[in-house]
Amino acid sequence: MATDPRRDALRALADTGLRLARGTTTARLALAGLRDVVDPATLSPEFRGRAVEQMERAHAEATQELSFDEVEKALSDAWGEPSGEVLDELDPEPVARTPAAQVHRGVHEGADVAVKVLRPGLPDQVRSDLNLLETLIRPLGAVFPSMAAGLLLREVRERVLDELDLEHVASTQRAFARALRRHEQLHVPAPVSSLCHERVLVSAWIDGTPVGELTDPGQRAAAARALVLFHVGSARFGTVHADPHPADAVRMADGRFAFLDFGATRQMSATRVDEGLIALDAFLAQDAETLGASLELLGWLPAEVGATTLVLGQDILAGRLDGPSRMDASALVETGKRAAAHAEALWPLAQVTSVPPEDLWPLRMLVGLATLLARLDVEEDWPALYGQAAQDGW
Ligand SMILES: Nc1ncnc2c1ncn2[C@@H]1O[C@H](COP(=O)(O)OP(=O)(O)O)[C@@H](O)[C@H]1O
Ligand SMILES: [Mg+2]
Repeated sequence: MATDPRRDALRALADTGLRLARGTTTARLALAGLRDVVDPATLSPEFRGRAVEQMERAHAEATQELSFDEVEKALSDAWGEPSGEVLDELDPEPVARTPAAQVHRGVHEGADVAVKVLRPGLPDQVRSDLNLLETLIRPLGAVFPSMAAGLLLREVRERVLDELDLEHVASTQRAFARALRRHEQLHVPAPVSSLCHERVLVSAWIDGTPVGELTDPGQRAAAARALVLFHVGSARFGTVHADPHPADAVRMADGRFAFLDFGATRQMSATRVDEGLIALDAFLAQDAETLGASLELLGWLPAEVGATTLVLGQDILAGRLDGPSRMDASALVETGKRAAAHAEALWPLAQVTSVPPEDLWPLRMLVGLATLLARLDVEEDWPALYGQAAQDGW
């Protein structure tokens, strides 16, 4: 049987990805993180059971509890004195264990705080894993020959290193907290600057219900709107929060939504947001010429494939572009199926598609946001909501 070069290229990419996933801590952590983000209902029944089992196992392994001694040691290393000298109280029972960190509730100068400690040894492990990303360059190039795979991986490397530096994270969080200080719907807890360190982040404690646990339909609808406003609006603010997560957006008792976890962020220019909006408007208005020109300006696709892109995109997203539509697991599955049905036509586009490295984290935000919104099961005019948040910001 003749080999199909497309299938070979895709298989080589998948094989390299799997090898990395098995062999590196970082990829196992990423797999563990997926457990909270991926809704099993969106997975194909043939491999749903196995995928869930693997994600659960990776999650359990990656989130083993740090002993309180380890937490104390990390804190005293950071602060130069025992935590008891710095905090009024520290609850030895963690409130959260994640693949990257453990969080404890404490009291500082009479105020409730969240004390986040990076898992010891993690930064060194991740740094050494990141060198292995180089092995992805060739197989990525075979599927997406127009992409600058080396530059994209460098972007991943830089963003991941940012994420491991909690001092950097704290300064980003501070900028968000300040910008949203008087906002009526959105809130970000201020970090306690004097206690933040490369491996420790302390911020004001937030009480409330994580959006992933909301059951009331009205509250879920408000959460969906707040999520779009916050994450898409963050692009207009100039720094994208690229990691929408069901535990990191919290509905507070006064109805505002608080946002946590500023690890995955990326600066973004207003010009780029404007260019993206021109492409979105052209796509919605079915204006192939403007769409092609704006995609070329963005550096994603050559102008001459504007018409093909428009037809394919409109078909894949049929029913979701014109007024309100329900966003749930079946909507995601259906969109995936429509895309798969166009595999033949999408392949030539993949050959000429490029993702400028600066767009990688904004794209991560868009994918993560769609995945999270699908869990909330809300009906909205999504294109209008996204467009408005990108245009007006917060
Ligand atoms: N300021 C806070 N107030 C209340 N809970 C918090 C706060 N910060 C973090 N948490 C809890 O700890 C969890 C993990 O913190 P997060 O910063 O998201 O860590 P990671 O980057 O490892 O995901 C959050 O999902 C939330 O449940
Ligand atoms: Mg988090």
